[in-house]
Amino acid sequence: MESNDFPTLSTPQGPVPADAPHWNRQRSSAMPSHRYRSVHDRVDLPLTGRRWPEARLERAPLWVPVDLRDGNQSLAEPMDTVRKRRMFDLLVAMGFKEIEVAYPSASQTDFDFVRHLATSGAVPDDVTVSVFTPAKPDLIDRTFEAIEGLPHALVHLYTPTAPTWRDVVLHRSRAEILSLIHESATQMDRLAAARPGADIRFEFSPEVFILTEPDFILEICNSVTELWDASPDRPVVHNLPATVEVATPNIYADQIEYAHRNLDRRDSVILSVHPHNDRGTGVACAELAVLAGAQRVEGCLFGNGERTGNVDLVTLALNLHAQGVDPMIDFSDIDTVRETVSECIKLPVHPRHPYGGDLVYTAFSGTHQDAISKGLAHHAERTDDLWEVPYLPIDPKDVGRTYEAVIRVNSQSGKGGIAHLLHTNYGLDLPQTMRADFSAIVQRATDASGTEFSPQQLWDHFRTTYLEPGTRGRITVTSLTTEEIATDKHRVTCTLSADGAAPTTYEGLGNGPLSAFTAALAQAGIEVDIRGYTEHSTTTGPDSPAIAYVQCRIGDTLWWGAGQDTSVLTASVRAVVAAVNRAG
Ligand code: KIV
Ligand code: ZN
Repeated sequence: MESNDFPTLSTPQGPVPADAPHWNRQRSSAMPSHRYRSVHDRVDLPLTGRRWPEARLERAPLWVPVDLRDGNQSLAEPMDTVRKRRMFDLLVAMGFKEIEVAYPSASQTDFDFVRHLATSGAVPDDVTVSVFTPAKPDLIDRTFEAIEGLPHALVHLYTPTAPTWRDVVLHRSRAEILSLIHESATQMDRLAAARPGADIRFEFSPEVFILTEPDFILEICNSVTELWDASPDRPVVHNLPATVEVATPNIYADQIEYAHRNLDRRDSVILSVHPHNDRGTGVACAELAVLAGAQRVEGCLFGNGERTGNVDLVTLALNLHAQGVDPMIDFSDIDTVRETVSECIKLPVHPRHPYGGDLVYTAFSGTHQDAISKGLAHHAERTDDLWEVPYLPIDPKDVGRTYEAVIRVNSQSGKGGIAHLLHTNYGLDLPQTMRADFSAIVQRATDASGTEFSPQQLWDHFRTTYLEPGTRGRITVTSLTTEEIATDKHRVTCTLSADGAAPTTYEGLGNGPLSAFTAALAQAGIEVDIRGYTEHSTTTGPDSPAIAYVQCRIGDTLWWGAGQDTSVLTASVRAVVAAVNRAG
């Protein structure tokens, strides 16, 4: 059957490739993919004997948030000083120790913000402020003007180095680019030397590193290392950006490992990476780059940044946390972090964003809920506190979430999740077979409404389905007394009104009060066979209400009823009456 609901789409009509297996019938499409070249045709990869696949992530790299520079440059409405300050304070509170704060020569706001930091005492002594500058003499001067008075500063010089940028944008040869960089690096050195007391270090970024010839990268970076006379005490940062992500993360890892193994004065170079997320693999690129030798990662909280964003530092850091590695950054109140970022950048965080989205610790699916519910119960009994709860990669409490939102109920949900919510919110511990009974009722309601059910709605449904018929319906019990007339022999005297008739008193005998009550019901012509019975208190303490669940055969059908009261007997009688009234 052909669908013509989407006239703007042209379903692929081309041939199925001759070598396609029989289970893959995809056809060649009209997408103009021939216009793009593989990264292998665009850049050499001289790495041999790669080592990164064997490496492990065992410690946090130096995280450098660039929210206030790269992130800010991507905003339709860049942050003003107030919002920038709020973001800066957040980053400091979270524990970041090197923060790129501005592109001071690009705008008065950015310049003023650096001046604000330099004069307001907002920068703790152990935090280094980084500022970004292009390789232009007047702009470098202006950048140094901005950082006057800051105790620790990193001046970050960048120049595009890839062939297309050299040829099309800058119209400069490799040699010309190199000398441009040398001139700027020399100017920076001179300006820093003129401030002997200040701790000013340098960073260099060959913009579009990933498409730049590896030998040119080494030539530039090694000569800059030498020019700045980098030493272990005063290392330079070489930051190798995936300015526009073009390849799978293994390629970036190869490129980083090649630099790691071939850069001069390696102990005097901090190897940094700066992934963007154009292919959606920014996080993977950063992780593999760290395996390949990177020691420092630039990115933004929740992946804000130009186009698809900079690499997301929240995901990266919490990925380490989830592997048992201290991220060295505090995420214990992720919602405050998320809300502050959103306020500052005026953009929302997706509800499915790893670790920070609203829905990321929530299961709607019945099988998942069941597993989580069992996993949480199992976890509560553990003594080692190790986290092994199915479907929850980390304990939501680590990031300041509660378990409340973990299980939410809609038409996809099952009995385990529903029982879990009634248990955690209302103290009910439904018998297994009653869970299935109630879940079918809830599913009919959620299927009909197409919406989610809150714990309150579940409770309301439970109450109207199983509890209320115990006091309202075809029969009502107006009085009831019990006596133990001998060992294991009980008498119940109760007054019932059935189907609106005048109340009548009946008596029944049984080996317990409940069986005596069903005998009294039989006297009234109501045959009830109790097949299952459970009760428990819903809170702790002597006056805590009891809830009783009773499954009765009435006619040919099994019916559940429930009753709640501080007296167990009253709760049980109400549960039986509820089952009878539900049977109709
Ligand atoms: O993406 C990039 O290349 C950058 C700089 C580090 C130049 O933001
Ligand atoms: Zn960038």
